[in-house]
Amino acid sequence: MQYTRLGSTGTRVSRLCLGCMTYGTPSWREWVLDDAQSRPFFRRALDAGINFFDTADMYSLGVSEEVTGRALAQVKRDSVVIATKVYNPMSADPNDQGLSRKHILHSIDASLKRLGTDYVDLYQIHRYDPHTPIEETLDALDTVVRAGKALYIGASSMWAWQFGQMLATSQRRNTARFVTMQNHYNLVYREEEREMIPFCRAEGIGLLPWSPLARGFLAGNRRVQDYGDTSRARTDSLAQQYYYQPSDFAVVEAVTRVAARRGVPNAQIALAWVLAQPGVTAPIVGASKLPQLDDALAAVELQLSSEELAELSAPYAPHAVLGHQ
Ligand SMILES: NC(=O)c1ccc[n+]([C@@H]2O[C@H](COP(=O)([O-])OP(=O)(O)OC[C@H]3O[C@@H](n4cnc5c(N)ncnc54)[C@H](OP(=O)(O)O)[C@@H]3O)[C@@H](O)[C@H]2O)c1
Repeated sequence: MQYTRLGSTGTRVSRLCLGCMTYGTPSWREWVLDDAQSRPFFRRALDAGINFFDTADMYSLGVSEEVTGRALAQVKRDSVVIATKVYNPMSADPNDQGLSRKHILHSIDASLKRLGTDYVDLYQIHRYDPHTPIEETLDALDTVVRAGKALYIGASSMWAWQFGQMLATSQRRNTARFVTMQNHYNLVYREEEREMIPFCRAEGIGLLPWSPLARGFLAGNRRVQDYGDTSRARTDSLAQQYYYQPSDFAVVEAVTRVAARRGVPNAQIALAWVLAQPGVTAPIVGASKLPQLDDALAAVELQLSSEELAELSAPYAPHAVLGHQ
C-alpha cells in the first residue's frame, strides 16, 4: 500500500479510503450488506494496508457507523483513520439535521457512541447548510475539535464559493480549518474540475473523491435499457439520475478499450485515472464483492501513460451540477 498525507496535515492515510456506505443494513438500501457480510471487507482492507475508512451518520441511519466501529474494534485505534459526517436528517425532528450548534454537538456524541470510539480522525460536514450562519457551524466544529472528539474537520460537496467563504471565515476567527474536501469526482462527473478542485489544490486541501467508479457505472456492466443486473445497478436511483447519458457510455467505451489493451478490468483503469489526478489524497471506494476490493488495490499500483490519460479524458461531455445546496 502507498500512503500519503491527509491534505496538508501530518497524518498519513492509505491512497484508498474504504467507503462504508455499502456496509450497514439492507433495510436502508437494497444493495447494502449487513454486519456479517461486511466483516470480510474490513479484514481484507486492513490486511492490505488500508488504514482509512469513511462513513456517515446517515448511512443506514447509524447502522453503518455501528458496523464500521465493530469491525475496526479488532485493531489498535491509533492504527486507523476514521472519518464520519454530519448534516443529513436522522429523523423527522426539525433539529435532527443541518449544521446548527445544537445538531453538531449532539451528532458527534451519537456518532462516537455508535462507532465505539472516543474520537474520530476526520469530522466532515456532509453538505453546506444555507439555513445556519457559517460562524455558528465553524464555532461548533471548533468546539468538537477542542474537546478532542475530532482531530480534523473536513467538508463535502458544495459550491466552491461557499467553501471559500467558510475557509476565509475560519481563518479570520481562528477556528479549526477544513483539511479535506470530499466531492463527487470520476470520469463521468468532472464538473468539479472547473472551480472546486483547482481551489483545493491552491489551498492545500486534500481531495477525497466519492463514487470514483460512478457508483459502478464505469465498471462497464450498466445498460441504458434496464440499468444492469446487480442489485445496486437496478435500485441505485442516484446513479440512474446522475449517469446513463450517451456521452457517459462513450466514456465507458474508452475505459473498456484501455482496459482491454492492458488485460485488466475497467474498474482498475477508472480508479487509476482518479488516483492520477493532482491533489487527490485518496478516492473513497465502494466494494460490494471482495474481488472488487482487489481491483481497487491493484489500481494503486497501475500507472497510466499520458496517452492513456488523454484517451480516457477525451469523450467527457459536461453535466448539470448535482446535489449542491
Ligand atoms: N460525501 C458524499 O456525499 C458521498 C456520496 C456518495 C458516496 N460517498 C462515500 O463514497 C463511498 C463510495 O461510494 P460508491 O459506493 O458510490 O463508490 P464507487 O466505487 O463509485 O461505486 C461502488 C460500486 O461500484 C461497483 N464496483 C466497485 N468495484 C468494482 C469492480 N472492481 N468491478 C465491477 N464493479 C465494481 C459495485 O457495484 P455493484 O454493487 O453493482 O457490483 C460497487 O457497489 C461511500 O461508501 C461513501 O463513503 C460519499
